[in-house]
Amino acid sequence: MVELSDVGGWHAHRFIEYHLDLPQIPDNLLFTTVDEIRNNCEVIYDAYMYKTYKAPQELSDYLAPYMTDVLKLYLADNMQVRYQVMTEQLPIHKDYDSKGVHKVLNYHITTGGDNVYTRWWDMPEDANLIFAHGAFDYHMGDHYDQSKKLYETIIPTNKWHKLTVNIPHDIGYITSPRIGLRLWNTWL
Ligand SMILES: [Fe+2]
Repeated sequence: MVELSDVGGWHAHRFIEYHLDLPQIPDNLLFTTVDEIRNNCEVIYDAYMYKTYKAPQELSDYLAPYMTDVLKLYLADNMQVRYQVMTEQLPIHKDYDSKGVHKVLNYHITTGGDNVYTRWWDMPEDANLIFAHGAFDYHMGDHYDQSKKLYETIIPTNKWHKLTVNIPHDIGYITSPRIGLRLWNTWL
């Protein structure tokens, strides 16, 4: 696991910012396996290798007071806490909600393996990298031009961070499910 000092400096802040003022979530409020999440939470978005589930109200209620000043982008009455589960390495993409939101607040519960990097890439402006409907330009980072990598970092578990999602990004190879939390607006 990297030290947080590894991601200091202005360059890193273009891609990731840690929010050390936000709390580590108590164990009794968290699910840590895919089965627990699947058995207790409504699935909201399902793209096979990437799924989101609505977190229980108890967790949302715990987090709400901490979040009011953190992300003006997430209107308080529309904030939704979701579990996100990745079961395979993702292609390079921009997030679906990056049309309106450039940074999202995330919290990893499991990393998906040792040394799983999150990476950002310099890609052509006209590439279709939002995985939604219609055409998608499919590039796996491991096979992409490595000189186009802008930045990479290993994000530790249990640390709230804002992730830049409107710059093309991916993760390295995972050997187990990568589970975390993410704040969403309800209309997405
Ligand atoms: Fe993403």
